Amino acid sequence: MAKLWGGRFRKSTDKKVDDFNSSIRFDKRMYKQDINGSIAHATMLGNQGVIPKEDSDKIVAELKNILADIENGKVEFLIDAEDIHMNIEKILTDRIGDAGKRLHTGRSRNDQVAVDIRMYLMDEATEISEMLKHTMSVFVDLAKEHTDTIMPGYTHLQKAQPITFAHHAMAYYEMFKRDYLRLQDCIDRTNVMPLGSGALAGTTYPLDRESVADMLGFNSITMNSLDGVSDRDFVLELASCLSIIMMHMSRFSEELILWSSNEFSFVEMDDAFSTGSSIMPQKKNPDVAELIRGKTGRVYGNLMGLLTMMKGIPLAYNKDMQEDKEQIFDSIDTVKLCLPVFCDMISTMKVNKVNMYEGAKGGFTNATDAADYLVKKGLPFRDAHAVIGNMVFYCIENNKAIDDLTMDEFKTFSNIIEDDIYDAVSMETCVNDRNVIGGPAKAVTLEAIEKAEKFISEQ
Ligand code: ARG
Repeated sequence: MAKLWGGRFRKSTDKKVDDFNSSIRFDKRMYKQDINGSIAHATMLGNQGVIPKEDSDKIVAELKNILADIENGKVEFLIDAEDIHMNIEKILTDRIGDAGKRLHTGRSRNDQVAVDIRMYLMDEATEISEMLKHTMSVFVDLAKEHTDTIMPGYTHLQKAQPITFAHHAMAYYEMFKRDYLRLQDCIDRTNVMPLGSGALAGTTYPLDRESVADMLGFNSITMNSLDGVSDRDFVLELASCLSIIMMHMSRFSEELILWSSNEFSFVEMDDAFSTGSSIMPQKKNPDVAELIRGKTGRVYGNLMGLLTMMKGIPLAYNKDMQEDKEQIFDSIDTVKLCLPVFCDMISTMKVNKVNMYEGAKGGFTNATDAADYLVKKGLPFRDAHAVIGNMVFYCIENNKAIDDLTMDEFKTFSNIIEDDIYDAVSMETCVNDRNVIGGPAKAVTLEAIEKAEKFISEQ
């Protein structure tokens, strides 16, 4: 096939080079953005009198036909037409001849690919934002159901202080809310229109860049033609946002894997979201959570791949940058694959409230509160810490919880302890007295839930 750029060449491209160079396999997914970008460019060329108005009308009409044909599966892309940009331009010129050959006036594939990928990534980021809104509401619903479900909170994976499962769920709401807001920031910085940058140094034609930006719905235009064609910061930003989303999904997945073990038995995955073993009949494995945790690695890998690909290339466009697509597309696909299954796995799992409560009671999670009790009775905190440390040691030796001790036993540690100790160290008091803003007390959690629901509904 004759190349669109073949004039300067006397030999045809080696077959291996065609295969090697071609990006149509993966960049064909930007067909809609490519066509819309070309429609805006052609319309502007016609309006500016750079090409005859009738030619620009013909181009626009035929590009719309091509779009419909692609969507109806009637178009076959060619490897040796290299990429989505030249494939569409070739189909256009095959169909309308000379008018089609005028489309690329004042444009280079370098600014064309830059505008296409920006539009494509904004569309995908908007879709992922919707998924994140759903993810946030899954955690809020979980929280609503569990404002009284007491469980141990951990540090170092050692039982620390009692919290509620609602509080734990709302921690994830906060993470996914930040992910959502980060994506909106990323979309804002992607929303800049590079057409008019040309190959690298702009163009001599009287292009109206602002009108192209308006037609395509961009907020603004790029301010330096070299940067316009060589900036891929927005790809890196999105890859980073997606990595952080995966990290959050992976952390909760890890907790669910632990919690569904026999040792914890805090949750049980629904049968529809677990798998069995080919040899061990008793097994019910949390494969979904494990796969999400595992897939996090490839999304991080894509981020590192992209950063490394960009780090040493001189201005402006270099072909290395074609490598941005498969990596960012893979991150997008992975996040879009994981989020829905993650959400459904969570909304269908069973929570074992009894085991969570027993877990909180069993691990001396009220030891801080017992020390605080002594402080409120006048003992300095350091002394109180030591008294309760001894008490915990005694409990471990005698296989008891602090709240199981008799008053006589309590008195052996400090004679300022009275009957009100039992209420002070109950799990319910430990949780509900922590009513600082951001704390696990039921009243505070209910307020946080209300705020969260408002936030989600306003997006
Ligand atoms: N397929 C190319 C890419 O994805 C498009 C730009 C190519 N420009 C060029 N002069 N080779 O980066």
